[in-house]
Amino acid sequence: MTTAFFTLHRDLPREGPGLAEDVAWAAHVTGLRAEGRVLDAGCGPGGDLGALGRAVPRGRVLGLDRVPHFVAAARERFAGDPVIRAEEGDMAAAPGGPYDLIWSAGAVYFLGISAALAAWRRALTPSGAVVFSHPTLWEDTGPARAFWGADWCATEGQHRAEFAAAGWGVIATRRVTEAGWMAYYGPLLARCDALQDGADPALAEVIAEARAEVASWREVRDQTGYMLYAVRPT
Ligand SMILES: C[S@@+](CC[C@H](N)C(=O)[O-])C[C@H]1O[C@@H](n2cnc3c(N)ncnc32)[C@H](O)[C@@H]1O
Repeated sequence: MTTAFFTLHRDLPREGPGLAEDVAWAAHVTGLRAEGRVLDAGCGPGGDLGALGRAVPRGRVLGLDRVPHFVAAARERFAGDPVIRAEEGDMAAAPGGPYDLIWSAGAVYFLGISAALAAWRRALTPSGAVVFSHPTLWEDTGPARAFWGADWCATEGQHRAEFAAAGWGVIATRRVTEAGWMAYYGPLLARCDALQDGADPALAEVIAEARAEVASWREVRDQTGYMLYAVRPT
């Protein structure tokens, strides 16, 4: 990722769609205990760490990301918090387990579903679960696929088949709402507005790309989005 990308993305509260209520749902459907241990895999600037911490007030939450300045932002946000900490590292290694919950918002596609689940299976407690949000086609249309620009994007049914083949069962699913998308895109658009005047060509390009992504999402939001998948080894 370029310097211009990080100039635009600096100081955003989160780096992908989602709400605190998605985390509360994940804690509820997986039966997470107040003493639970949680990994936020690909935590970005820590947008979900507060909600995860509230789910395990007597437990521990580790936010892990490979981008140093996201980790620095998360650390600053939760400095002094007795439950939450953030570290730089590779989420595939899932250090510090075993975990009752591995939460991952919008990051599993960096590894691929099967690879992520294979890596995390050994990092879970016997009753542990993984909850992650992932691009999903509500309708398998050309524009919806083009939005993701990737051939791995699939319907919920196709994702469920992949979980089953990998030896994982689905506990529950839930769509990330439009409010969840705006929790990401709202601050991103505000940052585009703030930086537009005086932007050099590289920054102007990433601003234009961000605006185009939001416009494309508005076109396809009835056809695709993020699904939250709560899964457990079978
Ligand atoms: C789309 S962002 C989502 C961030 C955060 N979960 C959120 O919702 O705000 C994906 C994050 O995954 C991180 N990431 C990607 N691959 C990773 C890896 N192998 N190990 C750790 N972090 C990774 C990126 O640095 C980025 O912060």
